[in-house]
Amino acid sequence: MKKITLVFGLIFLLSSSIAESDDASEAYVETEEEVPTVDIPYKSPEILEPSRVYFSEHFDDPAEVEKRWVRSEAKKEGISEDIAKYDGEWKIESPLRDGLIGDKGLVLKTQAKHAAISSPLKRPFVFQDKPLIVQYEVTLQDGQQCGGAYLKLLSKSSQPLHLEQFHDKTPYTIMFGPDKCGGDYKLHFIFNHRNPINGSIQEKHSKKPSERLEDLINDKHPHLYTLVLNPDNSFEIFIDNKLVNSGTLLDDFMPAVNPPAEIEDPTDKKPEDWDEREKIPDPAAVKPEDWDDDAPAQIIDESATKPDGWLDNEQPHIADPNAQKPVDWDSEMDGEWEPPLIDNPACESAPGCGTWEPPLVNNPAFKGKWRAPLIDNPNYKGKWRPKLIPNPDYFEDKTPFKMTSVEAIGFELWSMSKDILFDNIIITEEITIAQQWAADTFQKKRQKIAKDSVSHVIN
Ligand SMILES: *[C@@H]1O[C@H](CO)[C@@H](O)[C@H](O)[C@H]1NC(C)=O
Repeated sequence: MKKITLVFGLIFLLSSSIAESDDASEAYVETEEEVPTVDIPYKSPEILEPSRVYFSEHFDDPAEVEKRWVRSEAKKEGISEDIAKYDGEWKIESPLRDGLIGDKGLVLKTQAKHAAISSPLKRPFVFQDKPLIVQYEVTLQDGQQCGGAYLKLLSKSSQPLHLEQFHDKTPYTIMFGPDKCGGDYKLHFIFNHRNPINGSIQEKHSKKPSERLEDLINDKHPHLYTLVLNPDNSFEIFIDNKLVNSGTLLDDFMPAVNPPAEIEDPTDKKPEDWDEREKIPDPAAVKPEDWDDDAPAQIIDESATKPDGWLDNEQPHIADPNAQKPVDWDSEMDGEWEPPLIDNPACESAPGCGTWEPPLVNNPAFKGKWRAPLIDNPNYKGKWRPKLIPNPDYFEDKTPFKMTSVEAIGFELWSMSKDILFDNIIITEEITIAQQWAADTFQKKRQKIAKDSVSHVIN
C-alpha cells in the first residue's frame, strides 16, 4: 500500500514539475534522503471573469463566509422530536490532515444530527442558452458510515428567500454529489422536472456512474465533483477531472422525462375464450393396454442373499456399558436416565447385525402415471395484452434543460460520520473557469498530499 502511494506521489510530483515551471516544485531538491520541507504555496483563488460566475466560495475568509451563509433553524417534519431540529454544527476550519497554509473549508462537525446551511447565488442562474457547471470538493475526513455529501441548487420562487428555514422539502432544481450508506455507494444527479401539462414536479434520477465509488469515498482524501449540463440536454459528470458519467436528460434518467405516447388500455379485459396455452395434451392419444400406472418405482431384489456371517441375534447398537448416570441427574426434572447408544462391538467384524432385509432395486416395469403427449394447441392465440390507447397524460418536452431557475445553494444533510469538509464551490457557465479554479485549489491539495505521502514513506 505504501509503495503504491510512493509511486503515485512521485509521478504526481514529476508531472506537476514538468507542467509548472515557475512554482515551488523547484524550490527544493528531491532526493531520497532529503525530506521536502517547503510547502506548496497557496493563496485563495480569484475569479477573473465575475460576469460568468454565479457563485464561488473558497471558505478561506471566515468573516465573509458568516456574512454569506445562513445556518438553518428549521425543524424536519414527521420525525421524532429529539432529532427533528437542524442543529448539526457547521464550522469554518482547516483540514485535519495535509492542509495548505491559509486554506479553510466548511466542515460539518456533528454526526447523527440534521444539518443544513445555504447561501444565495450572486445572481440567479436561468437555464437558457448557457451551460451550467457546478463544481465542489468533498473530503470525508472521518470516512463515512452512512450519510450524504451532496449539494442542492435551490429553486427560485416568487417568495423571498428564507434560508434560515431551509429544510428537506425546500424546492430544489438539482441535487448533485456523493452519498453512501453501508455498502451502497451513490453519486447523485437528480433534477426536478416540471410537468408541462399540469405543473406538477417530479424527481428524475440519472443512471449510475461507470466508475466504482468505493475507493474514492473511503480514502479520506479530497475529491472534486464536477457536473456539466448543456443547453442541448447533454450532461457530463467528472470526479477528480475524470469522466464517470455522461448522457442526456432525455435518455438517461428514471423515470423518463417524457411519458410514452401510448399506454395499455386499463379497461380492456381478456376475453373468456382467449386460449393462452401454447401446447395441450393430445386428445387423440390413448393409454397403451399394458401401461400399469401403479407399478412401484422400486422392488425387492429377489436375487439377493443374506451375506455369510450375518449376526441375526446381535443388535447394531447397544447401550453403552460404561456410561454412568450423571450425579446431578434429576429424574423428576429430566425423566428416567437412559445410557447413550454406541455401535455394537460384536458387529465390527461381521458384515451386519440384526434382521437382514434384501435391498431394493429399480423396477423395470415402472412407467409412472400415463399422460397424453403434448401437441401444439390449434386454438392458441398468443399471450393476451390489453390494446394500446393514446396516453391521456402524454406530453413531449424537448428541452428539459430549461429547468426552474436557481437562486441559492445549500447542503441539507444527515451523516453518521463527523468532519465532512466541503470546499471550493463554483457555479459558472464556462468550464475553463471551473478548471482554473480547480487548478488553483484542488490540484494544490493533491500535490500537497502526494508530497506528504512521499515524505511519510521516506521517514
Ligand atoms: C399531473 O400529471 C401526472 C401524470 O402525467 C400525474 O401523475 C400527477 O398526479 C398530476 N398532478 C396534478 C397536480 O394533477
